[in-house]
Amino acid sequence: MSIKIAGTGSYIPERILTNADLEKMVDTNDEWIRTRTGISERHLAAPDQVTSDLGAEACRKALEAAGVDASEVGAVIVATCTPDYTFPSTAANIHRKLQLNKAFCFDLSAACCGFLSVLETACGIMMANKKYRYVLAVGAEKLSTIVNWDDRSTCILFGDGAGAVLLENVDDGDNTGLIASDMNTDGNWSEILKLPGGGSVNPPSERTIAEHLHGIHMQGQETFKLAVNAIVSACRTVESEAGISIRDDVKLVIPHQANIRIIQAVAKRLDITDEQVIVNINRYGNTSAASIAICFDEAVRTGRLQRGDLALLASFGSGLVWGAQLIRY
Ligand code: UT7
Repeated sequence: MSIKIAGTGSYIPERILTNADLEKMVDTNDEWIRTRTGISERHLAAPDQVTSDLGAEACRKALEAAGVDASEVGAVIVATCTPDYTFPSTAANIHRKLQLNKAFCFDLSAACCGFLSVLETACGIMMANKKYRYVLAVGAEKLSTIVNWDDRSTCILFGDGAGAVLLENVDDGDNTGLIASDMNTDGNWSEILKLPGGGSVNPPSERTIAEHLHGIHMQGQETFKLAVNAIVSACRTVESEAGISIRDDVKLVIPHQANIRIIQAVAKRLDITDEQVIVNINRYGNTSAASIAICFDEAVRTGRLQRGDLALLASFGSGLVWGAQLIRY
């Protein structure tokens, strides 16, 4: 039994916010942003576009690419830290918008590691007993709603967008899908990257608004240092468990797009070439749970990933949660 990636899709909202635009909003400059993060611009959803709109559009494209009708989808899992509501789930709203009438739908919260968590859940658990033939794995974010636009250390980093892959249970024995994975959490680091307001610890109040607790809080340098080691370690674990060589056997490494310097440091430690790494942070910034799903779709649509190729997905984010997954496309 194999799991095939039957189709991929992504959606990036139209409006572009450039570094020059940000210069007019906070005390920053294009040169600092580009050299410290690799970001030149990011896209922002329109006021009336919500996370499920972005996710639904990515799903629609993935279904179209696979030639599969919405009525055939058995489940939808959405990774997001910017859901439409706390409940109902964003996945349920996608169900309504695409009329996925047979689909069981739920959201999953693992911040930037959300899309890998969806794949782990879908491939490792839900599809393992063949109950579901088609599962939509989605990462969708409207991060512009949780950015503190007065905080120059974080507001320059994030963008909106969504990506989706349609997973299919197949019998063809091609050994495609999730080959090996290494997923981890260390809750002891939960303070360094969080959205403090709105949950049971700090329910919404005048105080939480006055103290900007509904925006992203990040200790950037600490997060950066932990990210590189954690990603490399997860990649090496997957490499040894799968019995492959990242450098020689993996066509494309698809890292979470948090900072170009993290990506470059990881690539150096993995001893891989520039052609082996996909980078689009310059255009989209950090789209959290959506970033790897968007990259995956770009890799497929630009031909950088062909049927049979191995892709190594690697991510890191709030929790802390980090991991790597080896996928045969
Ligand atoms: O997706 C989840 C995972 N997220 C990550 O992995 C993000 C990890 N962290 C990072 O990417 C980086 O730490 C940042 C991009 C967030 C920050 O880069 P940094 O090189 O760590 O900068 P820093 O925070 O050490 O700040 C250096 C200087 C400071 O000034 P002083 O104290 O040296 O005078 C900051 O105040 O840069 C200043 N600074 C800025 N200057 C211009 C901070 N933000 C800005 C800004 N424009 N936007």
